[in-house]
This record gives sequence, C-alpha cells and structure tokens, in this order.
Amino acid sequence: MVKTKIKNIIKGFKTPEARWARFGPYYAMFPVDFAFDVINKYSKRGDHILDPFAGRSTSIYAGGALGRHGLGIEINPVGWLYGKVKLNPAPKQDVVDRLYEIYDKRNYYNRAIKKLPEFYRICYCDDVLKFLLFARKNLDWKNDDVDSTLMSIILVFLHAKLGEGLSNQMRMTKSMGMNYSVEWWKANNMSSPPDVNPLKLMLKKINWRYEKGMPKIADSSVLYGDSTIELENINAEKKFSLLFTSPPYYSITDYHADQWLRLWMLGEEDKPKISSVKHKGRFFNKKNYYDLLDNVFGSSSKLMKQDSVIYIRTDKREFTLNTTREILKKHFPHHKERILYKPITKSTKTQTKLFGDKSLKPGEVDIILKR
Ligand SMILES: C[S@@+](CC[C@H](N)C(=O)[O-])C[C@H]1O[C@@H](n2cnc3c(N)ncnc32)[C@H](O)[C@@H]1O
Repeated sequence: MVKTKIKNIIKGFKTPEARWARFGPYYAMFPVDFAFDVINKYSKRGDHILDPFAGRSTSIYAGGALGRHGLGIEINPVGWLYGKVKLNPAPKQDVVDRLYEIYDKRNYYNRAIKKLPEFYRICYCDDVLKFLLFARKNLDWKNDDVDSTLMSIILVFLHAKLGEGLSNQMRMTKSMGMNYSVEWWKANNMSSPPDVNPLKLMLKKINWRYEKGMPKIADSSVLYGDSTIELENINAEKKFSLLFTSPPYYSITDYHADQWLRLWMLGEEDKPKISSVKHKGRFFNKKNYYDLLDNVFGSSSKLMKQDSVIYIRTDKREFTLNTTREILKKHFPHHKERILYKPITKSTKTQTKLFGDKSLKPGEVDIILKR
C-alpha cells in the first residue's frame, strides 16, 4: 500500500501528490525519490520531522504525503514559498479568479516597463512584463494563501526553456546573470522576446497542477526565517523523531544570487547583487559556516526525542564533511554514526548536478545517526 503510494508519487503524475511533489525549481534540491525513501525508512505515520534548511521543502512534503507532521525553516523566500504552497495550496478557482484580476489590470504598467533594464525587454514581451509588474506590486505572497499560490506558480515559470515558460530561452533552475543572458540572446539570434500570452500560459499551468485534485498532506508547515533564530522559539510539545536536512555546502552555492530573477519578482531590486546578509550569500567564511551548523544542530538537538534519527545529506569535500561530522558528534554524543558515500557516476543526480550543470562535482555523503 505505502509502496504503491510512493511509486505513484515518484513515477509519473497520476495523483495530486505527484503533481505537487516536484513543485518549484530550486538549485540544490533533494531528489524526490530519495526524500520519500528516507521518510519511509526512518519514520512512521504520526511522527514529527524537522528540517531547518528546508529549501523547497522536499523532506517536509514527503513526510506530509506519508502521514508525518513536518516543520521546515527556510531563509530564502523562493524556497520558502514553494514549500509553503505545496504543503497547502489554495483552492484552484480562487487562484484562477485572482489571475484574471491581475491580468485585467496589467495595462497600469504600460509606461513602467519602458524604464526597465534591457535584460527584461529581451527576456519578456510587453504583455508578460506588464502582467509581472502588476503581480509583483500587488500579490501579498507572504500573508495571503491565494496570492502566495498564484505567485509561486508565476515563479516556477518565470524563466524556462523557450516555449515552456514566460521568458526568452533561459535555464529553469538557476537565473543566469543579466549581461551574460543579454549577450547570449544576441549571439544566438534571440534578441526579441517570444510572444507569450501570460493569461493563457498561467491557466494552462494551473489546470495541469490541479488536474488530479488537491494533495492530501498531514498537518505540516514551513517557517520563513533564519533557523539560528526560529529554532530558539519553537516550543515543541511533541518532540521530533527525525531530523532530515541538507545544510548549505561550504563555498558552493549562493542560493540568493542563483535565484536573483525570482527574488526580483518577490520585490527585490531589478539588478542582481551579491548578498552581504548573513546566511544569504555563498558560505565562504569558515568560522561563519562552522557557527551556523553549530548553532542550528545545537538548537535542533534540544527538540529531538532521545531515540531520534538524524539524517544529513552533505557535500563530500573535506571541510564541509569534517565540520558537519564534528558538530553532529558534539550535539548527539550518544548516537552512532554511519556514513554512506555516494559514488559519483555519469548518471548520478547530485543535488547540484541537476538540470544541465555538467561541471564535475565531488559528490555527496549521507550521515546517519541513530541510537
Ligand atoms: C542544500 S539546500 C536544502 C535543499 C532542500 N533539501 C530541498 O530539497 O530543496 C540548503 C538550504 O538552506 C537554506 N539556509 C541557509 N542558511 C539558513 C538559515 N540560517 N536558516 C534557514 N535556512 C537556511 C538555504 O537558503 C538553502 O535553501
């Protein structure tokens, strides 16, 4: 029964849970089948699961789909929004009605689009750009369920392969730089944006997502914030039995720069910049990296049951791996450690190798702690 349920989610799109499971392109996400495997193997129905570096909430969603209650925390609004929505999407008709409202008012932005940098004018046709600007100013994506659902679906299709989203040719998972994109479009004879009708495209995408109905997810949530702060405020009546997460890898990904265009859509500036905010840029300061993991795993350890399982996927590189192991040992001194090295092969889908990123990566490691 459970095996069939999982199979139907990880293969194909036959059930509502399958339709939402992969929701939200994000650069360093868990493969969905891996998340379901871990949840199934290391927890049972009714258990509570914690993920303090939730990303697009793959872990929490897999838990919820299998009757576990999850709590995620994510500092990047793009990842947070994907997670929040997939755990509890707003009813379809409300989302469609709101889409019409936004689309109908797009001409308020007739003049504003002309002031945007060249990148936007090549990336999007005028109708799309007006629609995006109105949505960007008016959707209350942080507080309103309907608006967050509509905004998250816009984010998914904000950039994609030509013909699959709202944009000119782009990668879906990662936003490429502004100048790089403009030069690339020009060099490849693509300096006019594709003619896309945003209403039609969005309706098509909404219909597909909801076609099988609403996903049934056990009561779960994801907080928007910094785990070094949020974990301190959690008063878990029922302690967590599985800590299942993947921290940022030292010096590898900059989750904010990689998502700059989606962050613009959520209200940030129209030009990408390297974030200097703590925990938001690339993690290249060894002490800060150590302190982040020490703080988050330290606070998490206080919320876990004695016989909890800790499942951490991380980078195989020496500094990240050694730091993570040392900190986990410090906060879970009575747990026994097992390490699973993932040998890297041509077909290995590492979190950072997905979607056409073919650069050689040293692979990943799973650290499993049990009593
Ligand atoms: C390796 S990714 C996790 C991906 C996730 N497993 C998924 O399937 O999408 C690490 C995440 O940690 C987040 N992060 C980094 N520092 C954080 C902090 N202090 N509090 C909360 N989230 C943080 C990053 O924004 C990033 O999304």
